[in-house]
Amino acid sequence: MSDKIRVAVMGACGRMGREVIKAVAGANDMELVGACDIACPGVNASEATGVPGLEFSITADCNSLITTAKPHVVVDFAKPFDMANVRFMLKAGVVPVIGTTGQSDDDLAEMSKIAEETGTGVMVIPNFAIGAVLMMKFAAEAAKYMPNVEIIELHHDKKLDAPSGTSIKTALMIDEARKAAGIVPEQPLGSLDDPARGDQRGGVQVHSVRLPGLVAHQEVLFGGTGQILTIRHDSIDRTSFMPGVLLAVRRAPHIKALVYGLDKLL
Ligand SMILES: NC(=O)c1ccc[n+]([C@@H]2O[C@H](COP(=O)([O-])OP(=O)(O)OC[C@H]3O[C@@H](n4cnc5c(N)ncnc54)[C@H](O)[C@@H]3O)[C@@H](O)[C@H]2O)c1
Repeated sequence: MSDKIRVAVMGACGRMGREVIKAVAGANDMELVGACDIACPGVNASEATGVPGLEFSITADCNSLITTAKPHVVVDFAKPFDMANVRFMLKAGVVPVIGTTGQSDDDLAEMSKIAEETGTGVMVIPNFAIGAVLMMKFAAEAAKYMPNVEIIELHHDKKLDAPSGTSIKTALMIDEARKAAGIVPEQPLGSLDDPARGDQRGGVQVHSVRLPGLVAHQEVLFGGTGQILTIRHDSIDRTSFMPGVLLAVRRAPHIKALVYGLDKLL
């Protein structure tokens, strides 16, 4: 019997799904066993994704994907995020590696609970790009010394959720680092209730830009007396996410709980 990881992809015909299909099909230790997308059910996977040599058809939904393809791991880039699919996968003993953003705190809490009950792990990775993970780590480190910080995240105009999953994760890491160091940031004089001041996550103001031409970008701005530190990351191509996706898939069969963020796997 093959000891390759059996991988299926949700949202296979989308921008990220097609890249994942290509990356998994090219990985020697993985077997691409199926894919689903509501946009192209029944279509041959090669025809639907542009990746040659695939012999299966795209299924219409998560349930039929799990039943027919019998994957160990499902990479989920179906948009919008659907918690019902995660419930189904976990109860079937399949590990979801979720790249789609837009989960609520309640969704994360529920995933954690079901993972504990079933003993099947689940990953929620707001950003698979290694450079973005380093940006988050460096931001958390800098916040201990420069606690006054705001985030500007910039994405393409087809993105549905705001603020981005990456900015939320960054803000939470900054908040955690500041709290652990016992540091409270100064409050700016003006009201934070004005919409022009952005949204707040973990006590950090987050500003979202949506424009055609962008892929995924973020600036973390730290202000100190007489100085500004800017940490910036740019994903200029979706291939930037693929090494992180493959890393997560390789680790997925070995986890038993909720893993939130690629930083937990490095
Ligand atoms: N984690 C990361 O590193 C990362 C990187 C880039 C994008 N994203 C996120 O990934 C998600 C997808 O982005 P995209 O640009 O590929 O979107 P997209 O719109 O190009 O693709 C989404 C696909 O999902 C399909 N879909 C919708 N509902 C479905 C369902 N119920 N079952 C199966 N398929 C379904 C759509 O038909 C579409 O083909 C977004 O939430 C985006 O923010 C995450």
